[in-house]
Amino acid sequence: MKVKMDVGHLRPGMYVAELDRPWLETPFLFQGFVIENEDDLAQLREYCQYVFVDDLQSRQDREIQQAIRGAVGGVRSGRVAAVTVEFEEWQGAERLRETLKRLNQSVERTQARVESVLKDVRLGRAVQATQTREMVREMVESASRNPHTAQWMTLLQSENELIARHSMNVSVLAATFARFLGWSEELLNVVSEGGMLHDMGMARVPRVVLEKKGPLTAREFGIVRLHAGYASRMLAESGDYDPRVIEIVRHHHERLDGSGYPDGLAGDAIPPYVQLVGIVDVYESMTGEKPYERALSPSVALTRLHKRVGTHFDRGLVEQFIRCIGIYPLSSLVRLQNGALGIVVSSQQDNRLKPVLLMVRDPEGRELLPRRMVNLALMEGRPGWVIDSLLEPEAEGIDTRRILIEEFMLR
Ligand SMILES: [Fe+2]
Repeated sequence: MKVKMDVGHLRPGMYVAELDRPWLETPFLFQGFVIENEDDLAQLREYCQYVFVDDLQSRQDREIQQAIRGAVGGVRSGRVAAVTVEFEEWQGAERLRETLKRLNQSVERTQARVESVLKDVRLGRAVQATQTREMVREMVESASRNPHTAQWMTLLQSENELIARHSMNVSVLAATFARFLGWSEELLNVVSEGGMLHDMGMARVPRVVLEKKGPLTAREFGIVRLHAGYASRMLAESGDYDPRVIEIVRHHHERLDGSGYPDGLAGDAIPPYVQLVGIVDVYESMTGEKPYERALSPSVALTRLHKRVGTHFDRGLVEQFIRCIGIYPLSSLVRLQNGALGIVVSSQQDNRLKPVLLMVRDPEGRELLPRRMVNLALMEGRPGWVIDSLLEPEAEGIDTRRILIEEFMLR
């Protein structure tokens, strides 16, 4: 049950599920969090007059639960009565399908190039800078056409070879993030190239180790760790790469607290362009489909990434990255106030609380077929067409990835 509470009555341990204003207008990174300490309370008092507290997700101790129940006299966040699911299909739907078809072709072209570079690495042949530059150019172009390119790529090409797919996704995501940060076009190309090449050394790691189910032994992990040094040496020998690209390849596993490898660098010794690729690499690994591991949803992955702030990653960069991926990342499953469910397929930078949804369930929970898209930004004034909450697809029994693949027929 969500209970409306005056900010003056809040205390640590309570779970804040909703604010009296859009989350984007506040410094809170997550939509829904447990109040940890006085700092959280002070921030809530500064930005809000009241919030909605969820009793089930709050700490289960008597004092807290009684305080929440004491406030039940306030207004509850009830769901708006179910409305009809009549809506006009989003006009951009066809264009989105076209864009994704073009993206798919570009991915296939790049994929072939990446695989041939991986083969060279595997065989110990020199890597051609002209060849890798061409792949990066194509990825940077795709990223600039659509800010969601990287997320679409992570979602839709689960069948491709693992290292090639991961490299392309990290390359595009690094370019997207660098652009979001307002970095120069030149630096954007550096991180995109570093992202493309960062795991090339993995081609030398035996497949049995790479695809092993379960944790690696110390010896196996030792072998995996060699990939960073191996690839950076290869690029340095070719004499044709920007030193920052080589730095990214060598140091993308270094962590702020010095716990990373291969050189155990710490703090400022790891430049921002290296850290950026480190963050993007971890995020892409968590959200990308792997042979033996389930992919995490973007919101869960961002939460895990945020837990590593201060120890592994720089706070400012991670928080910017969360903003870049968005409040409702692509493929998020959301419930509307009218009870219908939809999957986020697009959103405008300046209207991120009202994304475009592919509708999957009606307010009564029935599957909606054929599926259609609706732009929430154009549904203003229609009761119930506002996002109520972000859902975990698995808990709802909805396979968002399968639905998007089915819908856009990309592999
Ligand atoms: Fe790596």
